[in-house]
Amino acid sequence: MNKFDVIAIGELNVDVILNSIDGEPEVGKEKFAKEMNLTLGSSTAIFAANIACLGSRTGFVGMIGRDTFGHLIESNLSGKGVDTSMLIKSDKYSSGATICLNYNEDRANVTYQGAMDFMTFDDMDKTLFSKTKHIHLSSIFMQSGIKKDLSDILKTARDNNVTTSLDTQWDPNEKWDMDYESILPYVDVFLPNETELKFITQATTLEEAVGKIAPYIHICVVKRGRKGSLLLQRNREPIHLDAFLNNDVIDAIGAGDSFNAGFIHAFVKGETAGNAQIVGNLTGAINTTAAGGTGAFTSKEAVKAIARTRFNQTLKI
Ligand SMILES: Nc1ncnc2c1ncn2[C@@H]1O[C@H](COP(=O)(O)OP(=O)(O)O)[C@@H](O)[C@H]1O
Ligand SMILES: [Mg+2]
Repeated sequence: MNKFDVIAIGELNVDVILNSIDGEPEVGKEKFAKEMNLTLGSSTAIFAANIACLGSRTGFVGMIGRDTFGHLIESNLSGKGVDTSMLIKSDKYSSGATICLNYNEDRANVTYQGAMDFMTFDDMDKTLFSKTKHIHLSSIFMQSGIKKDLSDILKTARDNNVTTSLDTQWDPNEKWDMDYESILPYVDVFLPNETELKFITQATTLEEAVGKIAPYIHICVVKRGRKGSLLLQRNREPIHLDAFLNNDVIDAIGAGDSFNAGFIHAFVKGETAGNAQIVGNLTGAINTTAAGGTGAFTSKEAVKAIARTRFNQTLKI
């Protein structure tokens, strides 16, 4: 018996969010912010917290510093039911942090990647491959060590009969240098959003991008925000699924990560890709009903209740 359903491999950092700031930052001056929040950041952490909330036994492999922010990250993750025993603690690098200056709908962010950028396949305890059914990899462009070793990690997973999913997330360098032709054949579920997919494939339309990845994918779901999602499977017709529209969005932070959590939770339980897509669209929509990426995911019962009361859906998980 595997100890875990899912192990997430990805970045970890804290967000220092400053609200109600008196004007924009200026070099050489000092300004006040009227409010501050210190939270667990990083999209892989949102994914892990929310899939654990849905009932998947979840572990996390990521690198943090042996420091105050590292403690905060670890206790936050374990508070959300995620196993932290595989976290790698560095004496050399400090934990990453993002300083978010919040101006109404817009944010100016500055990120120090810290330890997350340095984790490589070498740092990982290889017994993880015998402990889980599935590995989810995310945010590769923020982790140069993982990006470099991506195909080794995916191939090792396949050799061990562990299924994999990949959400590249945004490339802050905007280089989009992922060799999708060689990577995607080793990915069971590819989870980009529409914009990211177009950049990765250097396509101008979604149709063109889909044509380019088609020969290499197994399952791919393209996340399309308020437009819902597009499910692609090798040798099958694409399935477009409208979003369960929320016209009263609190914020969309983490909607894509919550979509991933719902889809992968269902996929690992053996649901068809079509059913997993419905669960993903619902958990993405549920994410938008509360603040931040994990606000709506307090318990499985609470998530099911939001599906029922806000979207008139039965969440079959
Ligand atoms: N306003 C919304 N109402 C309902 N569902 C939404 C809304 N915004 C996003 N979603 C759902 O969440 C999914 C992921 O959101 P999206 O913004 O596409 O991802 P990402 O955060 O990766 O860019 C979408 O495919 C959709 O199903
Ligand atoms: Mg995303």
